[in-house]
Amino acid sequence: MDGIFITLEGCEGVGKTTQVKLLQNYIEEHNIEAVFTREPGGTPVAEEIRKIILETGRDVVPLVEAYLFATARADHMQNLILPALRSGKMVICDRFIDSSLAYQGGARGLGFDVIYQINKAAIGGRMPDCTVFLDMNPIQSWRKQKGKVVSDDRLEGEADEFHTKVYQSFCKIRDSYTERYVSIIPQTEKLNTHSLIVNALKKRGYFN
Ligand code: TYD
Repeated sequence: MDGIFITLEGCEGVGKTTQVKLLQNYIEEHNIEAVFTREPGGTPVAEEIRKIILETGRDVVPLVEAYLFATARADHMQNLILPALRSGKMVICDRFIDSSLAYQGGARGLGFDVIYQINKAAIGGRMPDCTVFLDMNPIQSWRKQKGKVVSDDRLEGEADEFHTKVYQSFCKIRDSYTERYVSIIPQTEKLNTHSLIVNALKKRGYFN
């Protein structure tokens, strides 16, 4: 039987990286067999594409950006995610197709349908079983952190308006995939957020 496919999504600066690390530690400490990976990247070819996509100073039109993410995803899917799932392993991926829907479809304005079309073959028809969404508008979280750190990543460096659109798009996606989505509001204390995530995944029966 196929393994469980879990993705983590959310805007920048809302603590996703910290939560991925805490979840990874939990999984390791509890001897749960799972493959942790991330997008864009996860395989040698996809990591090379990641460099092209995220480097600042490049003029990449939205459609090309969407194709680059989908290309990296196709390699990641074929060479890492699908083989792991087929061998029964749980796969936990930091960002996946919903990031393309929110960033390229929503914030860049290509629309969700175009992104689905571009990604259909790339994901081989395999959507995640569960998506943990850190539900926070990044602008609020940046204000709390006394101003935003200057970024050397092309997407992260976009204006506040862009990131608000990303957040609103994630909310729309969440609202149309209520079964797949687990929405978690980041707490001031990161360990509390971690507990909310672990409990939600336990409740779904993914681990004890
Ligand atoms: P990364 O440093 O991995 O960001 P984070 O730590 O926030 O996950 O950079 C990935 C960037 O690429 C981030 O700005 C989100 C963006 N992205 C897309 O625009 N589309 C996609 O399909 C994916 C996977 C990521």
